[in-house]
Amino acid sequence: MTQPLAPSSQLWQARAHAKVNLHLGVGEAREDGFHELATVFQALDVHDVVSYRWSEDTTVEVTGRHAKGVPATTDNLAWRAVELVAQRLMLPATGILTMEKNIPAAGGMAGGSADAAAALLLANHALSTEFSREPVAEEKLFELAAELGSDVPFTLLGGTALGRGRGELLTSMLSRGRYIWAIITNAEGLSTPTVFHKLDELRAAGRGSSPHLDTEAVGQALISGNPRELAAVMHNDLQPAALSLRPDLRKILETGEAAGALKGIVSGSGPTCAFLCEDEETAAEVVAQVCADNRGTRGLVTTGPASGATLV
Ligand code: C5P
Repeated sequence: MTQPLAPSSQLWQARAHAKVNLHLGVGEAREDGFHELATVFQALDVHDVVSYRWSEDTTVEVTGRHAKGVPATTDNLAWRAVELVAQRLMLPATGILTMEKNIPAAGGMAGGSADAAAALLLANHALSTEFSREPVAEEKLFELAAELGSDVPFTLLGGTALGRGRGELLTSMLSRGRYIWAIITNAEGLSTPTVFHKLDELRAAGRGSSPHLDTEAVGQALISGNPRELAAVMHNDLQPAALSLRPDLRKILETGEAAGALKGIVSGSGPTCAFLCEDEETAAEVVAQVCADNRGTRGLVTTGPASGATLV
């Protein structure tokens, strides 16, 4: 007997938050090609809005100011998340998935990962409700997140967390206060595998930074709640590799710091640069000056920590 179809399908929505790495320590490449990380993630207020409605047909839509270049097809990682949940619930994967993109794409802010985390949550709620199934347990949802990508588990969790392994083994960290960021995005993206590969190359030539796997100083700064203390210890092992591939980022970092930021770093594998600022006025000034001086850049002001993927 075939399953009776759900009489009406409800629209579910979730916020999908971006992240910044306050510390990104990169160890040696592993046998599986991934690098062992010691990273500190902070979720940011800036978020995409992801919606899912069960239907017999399948549609993937991408809208919003950062929609350009994001696949509006079942190739999108967020659709893969719907498939994984449907598979666990022994249902066919169909439905209407919509992403309103406010997070810059291919920029080192985990926008695609965040959408996938939100889609896991949405598909789990929608499908278990529509078909009266036991939802996938939270622990299992985190396993599915890790299967989707290294940053997906953190974007599901949110807040501030230490990430080990390839970034998927998470421990929440204590963090006081609210941190203000000027985020500068770039018209031209940078491929994550290429940046990791470049770091291996630099290290083999004796030039890349040695692995910074100690996150103690960042942990202490976050407990102080003082952005100046945090600025003094922020670090990214991928930065020399990103700068070597994209020398234009060096000027962006210099302009932002000259405009008053406490510190600027390449966010994740870049090319987005994140500037920690003392207050919102300074952050707005950093955005204005960097964008005026560097072609192809856009900016936004946001704060952290924020939550992980959240149903609204
Ligand atoms: O897991 P994700 O799909 O985000 O990773 C994209 C690519 O980034 C990987 O294929 C790998 O080349 C690189 N990567 C890595 N080490 C990590 C995370 C990502 O080398 N810990």
